[in-house]
Amino acid sequence: MATGIAYVHPDKPLSLFINEVGVSPRYQRQGIARRLTDRLLDHAKALGCKEAWVATEESNRAARALYAATGGVEDEDRAVVYLYPLR
Ligand SMILES: CC(C)(COP(=O)(O)OP(=O)(O)OC[C@H]1O[C@@H](n2cnc3c(N)ncnc32)[C@H](O)[C@@H]1OP(=O)(O)O)[C@@H](O)C(=O)NCCC(=O)NCCS
Repeated sequence: MATGIAYVHPDKPLSLFINEVGVSPRYQRQGIARRLTDRLLDHAKALGCKEAWVATEESNRAARALYAATGGVEDEDRAVVYLYPLR
């Protein structure tokens, strides 16, 4: 699976947030995630997005290799994630 959300922001160019890319373990390393990511990027271009972005854990070697292999460039600013536990 892969999901992406095109963000309309009033004072920024249209961008695609890639929210999730996941391949069942038994089907990994067959190029499926690469094809899914490329498809999302092509769709983003067709929508007129100027940028796409995705985040993953520093320790997620497979995801980092995937995103680098599909043309992603690591952001120099290190983002920090905050979770809000809600009851
Ligand atoms: C990350 C994930 C989506 C990759 O899926 P995949 O279908 O196996 O990836 P692909 O076969 O398309 O691989 C494309 C490229 O990514 C890199 N890559 C993928 N898995 C890798 C691994 N385990 N180790 C090193 N590089 C890897 C390689 O460069 C690969 O190209 P190559 O096979 O020509 O060397 C998969 O490992 C997964 O579902 N992981 C668990 C969920 C997850 O963490 N998703 C990311 C959330 S941000």
